[in-house]
Amino acid sequence: MLEHITATRYVTPLREGGSLPGIVEGDDCGTWVLKFRGAGQGLKVLVAEVVVGELARRLGLRVPEMKAVELDAQIAKYEADEEVQDLLTASIGLNLGVDFLPGSFGYDGSQPPPPEEAARIVWLDAFTANVDRTWSNPNLLVWHHQAWCIDHGAALYFHHSWPGKGSNPDRFAAQGFDVSKHVLLDVAGDVTTAHAELAPRVDEALLEEVLAQVPDPWLEPAPGLADPAAVRAAYRENLLARVASPAAWLPGGAR
Ligand SMILES: Nc1ncnc2c1ncn2[C@@H]1O[C@H](COP(=O)(O)OP(=O)(O)OP(=O)(O)O)[C@@H](O)[C@H]1O
Ligand SMILES: [Mg+2]
Repeated sequence: MLEHITATRYVTPLREGGSLPGIVEGDDCGTWVLKFRGAGQGLKVLVAEVVVGELARRLGLRVPEMKAVELDAQIAKYEADEEVQDLLTASIGLNLGVDFLPGSFGYDGSQPPPPEEAARIVWLDAFTANVDRTWSNPNLLVWHHQAWCIDHGAALYFHHSWPGKGSNPDRFAAQGFDVSKHVLLDVAGDVTTAHAELAPRVDEALLEEVLAQVPDPWLEPAPGLADPAAVRAAYRENLLARVASPAAWLPGGAR
């Protein structure tokens, strides 16, 4: 599971993100971008962040370190801003911490990643159905002249239908991907080559390792998915089904 730390101080809101992420200090002396469990989008967004981010890391892409950050009631008490106080109060418990990259800036095309790396990022987004890496919302930081992938909360959208319908891996496997607005479309090399390189690495063992990082309390039960182990198995089955049927989603067509 992700390493656990406790927030010792709320520093400032990050004003930019839609979910009102904030910056906190941890008892590990680190500075963390906190994605709050109490933000409107719910726990599944945090699960997608961890699953896709930790998968990306294991496939060799740069993703800031993530930790599970405990927020206790004391921190909310000392916050003067009412909106932030409400968010903190709603988020007591485990939240997601993303290592703050000081001096990074949002991708603007001025320092594009090499074509092979860009193709691997496009592949990751197509595979995980991440629609949130466009020019209006690049979710890519440039830090020390290199690209860092952030904000994977919109990926794995299939899990939002679990509360009513349960898991259906065939549906996710057949879901297309619109690459036309991807922020790296113009600089990416051959995505089918990236697929040939990365897809064989996405096996049961890798996915189990990735899914083990997700804290149990974020894995909400759904019809047919009674406990965290069943929820993890559903993510694994959905991702394995999709990686095996690239014809539906691979930009440039499957080989
Ligand atoms: N690890 C980080 N280091 C430095 N800055 C960061 C980091 N993570 C996020 N940011 C900054 O905060 C902004 C919002 O973060 P993020 O995209 O993760 O939040 P969000 O609420 O999911 O956003 P949205 O839904 O609006 O895309 C980023 O665009 C970036 O400017
Ligand atoms: Mg974002």
